[in-house]
Amino acid sequence: MDFDALFLKRKSVRAYEARPVEDEVKHKIKAAMLRAPTAGALMLYSVLEIEDQALKEKLAETCDHQPFIAKAPWVLIFLADYRRIVDYFEHFGVWPWCERTRRQKVSPQESDLLLACCDALIAAQTASLAAESLGLGSCYIGDIMEHWEEHRALLALPQYTFPITMLCLGYPTPQQRERALTPRLPESMVVMKDRYRRLQPEELASMFQGEGYGKFAPKRDEENPAQALYDRKFSAAFSQEMRRSVASMLKDWQ
Ligand SMILES: Cc1cc2nc3c(=O)[nH]c(=O)nc-3n(C[C@H](O)[C@H](O)[C@H](O)COP(=O)(O)O)c2cc1C
Repeated sequence: MDFDALFLKRKSVRAYEARPVEDEVKHKIKAAMLRAPTAGALMLYSVLEIEDQALKEKLAETCDHQPFIAKAPWVLIFLADYRRIVDYFEHFGVWPWCERTRRQKVSPQESDLLLACCDALIAAQTASLAAESLGLGSCYIGDIMEHWEEHRALLALPQYTFPITMLCLGYPTPQQRERALTPRLPESMVVMKDRYRRLQPEELASMFQGEGYGKFAPKRDEENPAQALYDRKFSAAFSQEMRRSVASMLKDWQ
């Protein structure tokens, strides 16, 4: 697959052909994923392959009611994971050794969670691009960060693990292959030289407007696109649930 097809024409795919993803294809994608860069070579992530159809259907509900999740032939949940390394430390008696030798006993903190999220997301994006290169399509599901308590129970997640993202994968339907690309902000608003540059009022006035941004258009009593965006994304029920859920997870993390 060439550069343009892999990067410049890539789009999220939310409708899949009914055929399963072949085991050899899955194997190649996982092999590519496992070669992704990882902080300190520690591999601070784990991946759950969701094969239980009832579980997929449950996730389709708990992840903001997105029925296509249940129809995805291959579903992967990427966990930020410090559990494995803490278990390793415990297996080799690191905590009593810290006490004996008056070393500080350090448990995973927020910084460790962020680092583990970096690992998990880089692995996810590597899997997504590997899948794309083999003719599959995928869609991230950020809503897996919601309903922490329910997802923790459903997926048997121990302390120091957190589902930072989910990927739905499968062969795209013809309609998905034809679908128009979604717009992006121009490079001038996103890529900065040396220091942070806040956007000028005239740039803000043109942001998220123009071709392809129709779904950001104001509705009902919204007066402009920013108010529409605020209603649709920022203050929406799913955003509020994500804030609550992540705050709850952070309490468990420490
Ligand atoms: C972190 C993250 C979370 C996302 N969560 C969802 C989701 O829950 N449901 C969904 O349909 N798409 C989700 N997407 C896909 C985005 O909506 C999509 O990437 C965006 O609209 C741009 O479209 P494109 O990928 O087709 O270019 C997510 C993407 C990312 C990166």
